[in-house]
Amino acid sequence: MIENLFFMTKQEAEKRIIKLRLEIDKHRFNYHVLDKESISPAALDSLKAELFALENKYPDLITPNSPTQRVAGKPLEKFKKAHHLSPMISLFDAFSVEDMQAWQKRNENYLNQVWNKEYYCELKLDGLAISLRYLKGELYLAATRGDGKVGEDVTQNARTIKSIPLALTPVSLDQLLDIGFSKEEAKTLFFYLKTGQIELRGEAIMRLAVLNELNEKNKKEGKPLLANTRNAVAGSIRQLDSKITSSRRLDFFAYDLLLPDRARGEIIVSKDQLDALMRLLGFKVLKQNRVAPNLSAVFNFYEETEKKRNLLPFEIDGVVVKVNDLKMWPILGIVGKAPRYMMAYKFSAEQATTKVLSITWQVGRTGVLTPTANLEPVKVGGALISRSTLHNFSEIKRLGLKLKDTVIIERSGDVIPKVVQVLPNLRTGEEEEIKAPKICPRCHSQIEKIKGEVAYRCVNKNCFAVSWRRISHFVSKGAADFAGLGPKLIEQFMTSGLIKDAADLYSLRKSDLLSLERFAEKKADNVLALIVVKKNLELANFIYALGIRHVGEETASLLAAEFISAYLKMKFKKEKKINISTLVKFFQNKDREFFNNIANIGEVVAKSIYDFWHEKDNLELLSKLENNGVILNLEKELERLYSNKTSKLKGKSFVLTGTMTSLTREGAKDRIKARGGKIKDSVSLEVDYLVMGKNPGSKYEKAKKMDIKIINESEFLQLLDSK
Ligand code: IVH
Repeated sequence: MIENLFFMTKQEAEKRIIKLRLEIDKHRFNYHVLDKESISPAALDSLKAELFALENKYPDLITPNSPTQRVAGKPLEKFKKAHHLSPMISLFDAFSVEDMQAWQKRNENYLNQVWNKEYYCELKLDGLAISLRYLKGELYLAATRGDGKVGEDVTQNARTIKSIPLALTPVSLDQLLDIGFSKEEAKTLFFYLKTGQIELRGEAIMRLAVLNELNEKNKKEGKPLLANTRNAVAGSIRQLDSKITSSRRLDFFAYDLLLPDRARGEIIVSKDQLDALMRLLGFKVLKQNRVAPNLSAVFNFYEETEKKRNLLPFEIDGVVVKVNDLKMWPILGIVGKAPRYMMAYKFSAEQATTKVLSITWQVGRTGVLTPTANLEPVKVGGALISRSTLHNFSEIKRLGLKLKDTVIIERSGDVIPKVVQVLPNLRTGEEEEIKAPKICPRCHSQIEKIKGEVAYRCVNKNCFAVSWRRISHFVSKGAADFAGLGPKLIEQFMTSGLIKDAADLYSLRKSDLLSLERFAEKKADNVLALIVVKKNLELANFIYALGIRHVGEETASLLAAEFISAYLKMKFKKEKKINISTLVKFFQNKDREFFNNIANIGEVVAKSIYDFWHEKDNLELLSKLENNGVILNLEKELERLYSNKTSKLKGKSFVLTGTMTSLTREGAKDRIKARGGKIKDSVSLEVDYLVMGKNPGSKYEKAKKMDIKIINESEFLQLLDSK
């Protein structure tokens, strides 16, 4: 059979591959799930070998579901095998309300009897399934799932997990009566628990905080980082040295209890009662689990859980919905790989695979080129994604990315999705190397790699893209703030030759504007009125608007404050408005040391500021701005200087969420820092204030829960200005 492979066309090979996969899967299913050997192991092996050879020849035909791609669940050599008493099976997946409704319908038809349609909702933990067996109340075996029939004996390691009881907690009669058992039933349970063998199943997990700690350590030691807690748990449990497992501080949550005979269903009547019993026995059971009287309550649970997902200390990938009435379980039974009485209702995937079609290099304000990957559109977490950022050329190298590669992209929250991994297995050979750009995509001049930096830069001072970004920056929020006059209009002004730099904005005439497309009288008047107002600029805003490399809003404020304190010491009459040339003269007379001595300004930034005031083009722009009537206002800076010596923010910690209307996120952070406050990325008990802008994220809910002071934008601005 295998020799034929070399005479097949690709189309023939594809058909054969599909058939082989079905055939292999059928036999594996018979063997692993139905316990039936429908083909000899040797014959199955030769089918697999053929599939392997074909897929090797045509790597683009490999799919993640191919049996060749499945990681064998065989126990590792180093651990003893553990045979499960009943197979550890899997769950069916649902992704939508419709899937869930169809599931209920199927069960209704299947049961063909009165059924209360009550459910039990649980979180779907993303860890590793573990089975625990107790004999006469003592733990004697802990096993992984393995292939479902045979797992690995990880007893030694499981013993190090503190939430796994080594012996069951003795239960009293009253406790059993309390959770709804009759005296008779309680007696039977006592008998089972004391004499018989019982099995607990659940999920071993690693908390995110532990994972992060572990990754920090791996990073320092140059070891590969763990992608998620699931891998980390698996790695931690499969350790020969149980001291390592112990150091990983794993946790265990129980979700099932198997008792001899028909106890589950006849004595224990519902999943919520089963949970209560597991708790009495000393197991941790998720406190979020809830009874849902019907499907719509299930949908509420799902939605609420998805919203709160990021607040949980561990990872979950959905909820597990179980028929609450345990009597129904054996009736509904198992079909294929999973039970009918449970469903994994998954959250929409936040990772997806797609192909990188091309790379666009975007030119930034300082001429730096940033690569963006254009993708075959794919849905990620509910949104159709067709672009993804790649940060810089080193990122492309780090990922080993080529054009036409299949990649994993990830979207978390509302941030722009990123490429997290390349799947080189799926390469067809048609992929192309991504080269560092040689010429600017906009002005076609030479690109330079700046020494000591990862960035490639267009150094053409007249590059359209660079000018457009610089002017757009000049008019942006936190800078000159020409609200309503954004990058689109700037581009229109530039392409029609009306402006080349920010100073040209101030010499626009009405007739110029009226000559433009989509510019009627009223719009032209509005723009001109705005421009007049913006001739008067706050000093710090103006410095920021200049777009000096590395100078953000706060550094601009620092420079403004330096100027003002020097200005106040001068002997002539103090005006509250000054000319640009006064400012230029002041800064031109300073050396690098001067800038470097300003608190919070380091060497690199100091050099960039110093250079700025000595570059011919910049000086030309500055004098053009002055000639076109731009004047600098010191009022606010003076006020700030007098009022802001001791700030209420000193030593306080802040978390920001949502967007603010008058400040950028960076600007807000800089201001907090400048007043002695600290920025934290996530909400914890050490945080003093949560500053809430529009559309706040999950941090808001968390802060509310923790009773942290929440302030809105105007309260925040007041706080910034308070003494
Ligand atoms: S019940 C028939 N409940 O999800 C398997 N499983 O995708 C019965 N899981 O192998 C499992 N949280 O490891 C159940 N609350 C939960 C769960 C849960 C996570 C895992 C479990 C299972 C996998 C199936």
